[in-house]
Amino acid sequence: MVETPFDKIKESLSKQIPKNLVRKIPDKWEKTGEVLTIKLPTDLKNYEKEIGEVYAMILNCKTVLNDIGGISGVYREPNVAVIYGSTNTETIHKENGIKYKLDPQRTMFSSGNMDERLRMANISNTGETVVDLFAGIGYFTIPMAVYSKPKKIFACEINPVSYDYLCANIILNNVTSLVEPLKGDNRKISPKNVADRVLLGYFGDTHDFIPTALDCLKNHTGIIHYHDKFPEDVVPDDPLKIVKKIAEKYDRNAQLLKYKHVKTYAPGISHFVLDIQIGEQ
Ligand SMILES: C[S@@+](CC[C@H](N)C(=O)[O-])C[C@H]1O[C@@H](n2cnc3c(N)ncnc32)[C@H](O)[C@@H]1O
Repeated sequence: MVETPFDKIKESLSKQIPKNLVRKIPDKWEKTGEVLTIKLPTDLKNYEKEIGEVYAMILNCKTVLNDIGGISGVYREPNVAVIYGSTNTETIHKENGIKYKLDPQRTMFSSGNMDERLRMANISNTGETVVDLFAGIGYFTIPMAVYSKPKKIFACEINPVSYDYLCANIILNNVTSLVEPLKGDNRKISPKNVADRVLLGYFGDTHDFIPTALDCLKNHTGIIHYHDKFPEDVVPDDPLKIVKKIAEKYDRNAQLLKYKHVKTYAPGISHFVLDIQIGEQ
């Protein structure tokens, strides 16, 4: 039988740490460029360096991070600690022909959103102007610019660290003529009355930003991609109702084009994206 990387990790660690603890090592990880993130139970704390070293060797990484507290705050910052390797965790993650420069100690990257990054890469076209209200390091903006080549993408980002990586990624992927990065709160800095399509790649209270998205749309008409986490049994009706109610204030209607499950967040709660056409009533 073929030995998986996890089999090799278990085998190597069973020589270094007590058997009852080997059972608790994680069989899942996030590999972002050369940096690996794992989540260790607290009872493995005394062995974290040995564990980190084995994961680094077998999975070929320069640094291993322990995920202590997930991703939090408006800036979506990870709460992680280096348990093995270099503390300089800046790296380049390659996916679908795109290079994302980032620092997994300071900026988020969700492998669970890969399908959505692939979908966004091809959803636009050469005639469109797009506003990405939550650009991060360019998760959606860069693949869309490279593969769809819209006329223009305005990419808004509030976190100064993510903004600097966004700017670096625009250069790294040769899309400086298509993408205009904008630093600050999208409610203040996003361009108004210009867009055919607006991306709302955020979760928490994304509905608070729907008026901003409608203001970005040309004549308050176009497509919005509305992300958030929702109880699975209320999708798509409840989020669509939220958008309809806001659109009515603009004398517009909201029509669902498509909705998609992005990833599971907690039991019964998932991250969804809804593609919604905002049109005249
Ligand atoms: C969840 S991340 C982007 C995730 C990405 N769309 C994906 O799916 O992988 C959201 C980004 O929005 C930024 N952000 C949050 N509030 C903002 C605001 N009011 N204006 C601009 N950017 C904001 C955060 O700093 C963060 O980088």
